[in-house]
Order: sequence, then C-alpha cells, then structure tokens
Amino acid sequence: MRIEISPKPRSEITADIEIVCVVGKNFDHPWIQDRETLELMGFQGDQDQTCLLPSSQRLYVGLDSLHHDDVRSGYAAAIKALSNTKVSHVKTGLYLGKCSAQNVKAMTEGMILGDYAFDHYKSEKAKHPVKEVTISCEDFKGKEIDCQKAQGYVDNAVTVALATNYTRNLVNMAPDDMTPEMLAIKAVALAEENDLECIVLDEKGLEEEKMGAFLAVSRASNHPPRLVHLAYKPDNAKFKVALVGKGLTYDSGGLSLKPAEYMVTMKSDKSGACAVLGIMKAVSELGLPVEVHGIIGATENMIGGNAYKPDDILTAKNGTTIEVRNTDAEGRLVLADCLCYAQEKVKPDYLLDYATLTGACVVALGEYTTGLMGHDRGLKHSFSKAATNAGELTGTLPFNRYLEKLIKSDIADVCNISSSRYGGAITAAMFLDRFIEKENKHKWLHLDIAGPAYVEKPWGYNPAGASGAGVRMSVKWLEQTVKTFGKETPHH
Ligand code: BES
Ligand code: ZN
Ligand code: ZN
Repeated sequence: MRIEISPKPRSEITADIEIVCVVGKNFDHPWIQDRETLELMGFQGDQDQTCLLPSSQRLYVGLDSLHHDDVRSGYAAAIKALSNTKVSHVKTGLYLGKCSAQNVKAMTEGMILGDYAFDHYKSEKAKHPVKEVTISCEDFKGKEIDCQKAQGYVDNAVTVALATNYTRNLVNMAPDDMTPEMLAIKAVALAEENDLECIVLDEKGLEEEKMGAFLAVSRASNHPPRLVHLAYKPDNAKFKVALVGKGLTYDSGGLSLKPAEYMVTMKSDKSGACAVLGIMKAVSELGLPVEVHGIIGATENMIGGNAYKPDDILTAKNGTTIEVRNTDAEGRLVLADCLCYAQEKVKPDYLLDYATLTGACVVALGEYTTGLMGHDRGLKHSFSKAATNAGELTGTLPFNRYLEKLIKSDIADVCNISSSRYGGAITAAMFLDRFIEKENKHKWLHLDIAGPAYVEKPWGYNPAGASGAGVRMSVKWLEQTVKTFGKETPHH
C-alpha cells in the first residue's frame, strides 16, 4: 500500500473511493454529503462503524473524536471494510486533531495495521485490494499543514507499522517452523538487509558464556538454542540502549507441564524476542541517532529424559545460583543470563527487556495492557507516556520489600518461583532484578507483554493472534528520549 500526501483539494483527486469520517456523530459537516442515505442505511457514526456508498463513491466511518486512538482505529476499520472489494485507489482528507503529526501518523498506522492478515498457512490468500492512498492536505477543520512535513509523518508511520506487522508475522508462525534456529536465521536476514552487526551463539557459545540457566531450559528440546545479538550503531548516536527479548519458540511448561488448555498459544512465548527484532528493524530504517542492541534468547521449553527439573540448582552467567521449583517459570531463567550478557557486552545507558513472562500480569492488568516494572519512576513515566502517544496501553506494577522476600531460597541464592500465589508479575520482575548490576538498577525497565502480545480474538485494529505489542511504544520512547537525553536531570 502506497500512501501519499497531495497538495490538491479532495475534489481534484481522482480515486475509486473517498474515506469520509463522521466525527462525534456530527453529520452537519460540509464533507458529509449523503446524510439521508446514511440514515436509510442505519449508519449512526459509532466509532469504527462503516458504511460504503458505492454510487457516491464514499466510505463513511464513525469516529468518537479526533483523538489519535479514535483516528487510528477508524482508519483500520475503513481499510478492513474494503478488503473484499476491488477498490484499489482510495483518497481521504486530513483529520488533524490537537497534534497534527500524531494524527497523520495515526491515519497511516491505522490503514497499514488494519490491512494486516496472517494467511501464511491458508490456501486462499488475503486480497489487500487497496494499493494506493492519496491523502489531501485539506483538513476537516481547516487546519493548515506543510505537505512535505506531512509526508515525513506518513513515511515514519509506514516504517513503524510495517515493523509491527513484521513482528506479528514472526510470532504467528507455527512453532515447528519458527524454531530457535529459524528465529536466528530471520535475525541474520534482518541484519543483512538493514546493515546491522550480528552475532549468533549456539550451545557451545552459551557454554563459553557460562549461561547455565538458559542452557538448562533448552536442554530437552530437539531444536538447539540460539542467542542473537544485533547491533545498530549510527555515527551520530546520542546514547546506547540494550533491548533483551524472551524468545521461547515453544513453552510446554517443561516437566512442570502446562495443562492442555494453557499450552495452546504458547508459540507466542517468543513475542518479546520478535518485538525486539521489529524495533531493530524500525530504528535502523528510521535512522534514529541511538545505538541500539537487540539481544534475544531463543529456545524451546520441552520435556524429555534430559529435561531440567524442579529441585535442580542452576548457576547463571553472573554466578548467582537458582533453585528451580517450577520448570514453567523458564522465561526468567533465559532472561537472567541474557540480561547479564547485555550488561557485560553493551554497558548500555538504558536496559529494557520484553517478555511474555507471567499469566499473573494478565490477571492484574487484563489482556490488552503491558506491565511496566523497574526501579526508576522517571523512566517508567517517560515510557508510559510514549506508549500512550503510540496508542499502546501500559500499567505500572510497583515493587516492594515484602514481595522481594518471597523468592528467597533455603538452598540457593534465589528461587525461580514465589512462595505466594499472589503478585506473580512483580515477583517475576524481582527475580530478574537479582541479575541487574547495582549501577544499572535505574537504567532498567521490564515489560511484561504476556497479555497484549497475543490475544485470540480481534481487538481494535489488532486481529486475532499476534499484535506486535512493544514495537510502536518503544520506537516512540526512543524518539522522545533522543529529544530529552542529557537535558533533564537523571531520572532517579
Ligand atoms: N510463558 C508463560 C507466561 C504466559 C502465560 C504468557 C499466559 C502468556 C500467556 C510463562 O513462562 C509461565 O509459564 N509463567 C508461569 C509462572 C509460574 C510457574 C510462576 C505462569 O504465569 O503461570
Ligand atoms: Zn512457562
Ligand atoms: Zn514462558
């Protein structure tokens, strides 16, 4: 889909269909010229409601307001409404709200995210009829905008939305196709295409790095593990970020086997790693002036005679010993070693990790919200602000000293599960905290994406399955941090 800004008024652009928004159920706007027909068709202008009027060559879509969330969602609904037509060229005006840049991006993102369909395993492929979108610089409320700037916003949003779809595709692939080796192959391909540095470690490499926790998790799988380290190093980098992703290409639970109903969808346990790949793709294509490292721990958690077991004691890369009491709490074991690796090799200014880490996070915040955890209030705040601007939902879950005690072990330095059934998202993060060096405590942010990364029913502009959670908010946070880095006092 090509999206172009045009200086021409809407009436001078030829296209098959014009997308016209009805904002706040207000039909008294000169752009809305089919009031009677719309009423006849029962169109009331509810958010995301669409009405295609072929004879007047218009597709109407309802928006509650010009808030960017409503715009993004409405444009996704509009593109979806055309998915079974032969409409290939669409035009539309601008719907700028408070922030022009944000709304132009929201329109663009909505169309590209809304056009996504995962049909890799379907004999009949999705059609994606709309090939060209022309956005007139004429605004719904007469706001003025520089066309060239607007095209810049469009191009930025296209890059970020396509990176999100790239992440969705990786996550949606079946576990026997997207094995740890294959995930590493995909990362190498991305590195080649986008000119990134890339290191891949196999089992031998993991042994040399003394990653005893990661290796234990991977032991019972027929597919060998991979650690991938990608790096984007522009000359004008203002600061350095390390992104660590949980890449469980399948989580059966291991010997602490998941019940059948909980095991389905566990191909999505690689969502953190796939989000990191999507972010690497976006930042390198946008040319952001930030050095970004992406480190992913890819493995399966399986059963077998050589499986790691409850009661095992593992030694992580930093020498910390871990009592295993539940092999299904495997993500934190993989991340522990990867976080040590990131700190040792990268020495980043910020350290973020992405993981479908706990069912408890989904219980706490619901399916659509990412859990943010860390020691630095400023960092959590700046990230959640960026997420809101990008149209992703986050909620912060607070650490406390009592929960910290629940992961004590009688026999090792730390236990891989909490002794309480409550607060599981936080105790998992507090486990990770044991692998964060003192000088990095305030640089670290943990994102539990167990809810939003993969939802089995459509929500907003997200289809059933992978959403690409984490990509848009992280790119937005990096863009915002480029502007503020070094200018404010440190976050603590
Ligand atoms: N991958 C799961 C977490 C998960 C659950 C992700 C639901 C997405 C949806 C993780 O490895 C896991 O199994 N966590 C356990 C931890 C428990 C054993 C302490 C959980 O959440 O039940
Ligand atoms: Zn698990
Ligand atoms: Zn898992």
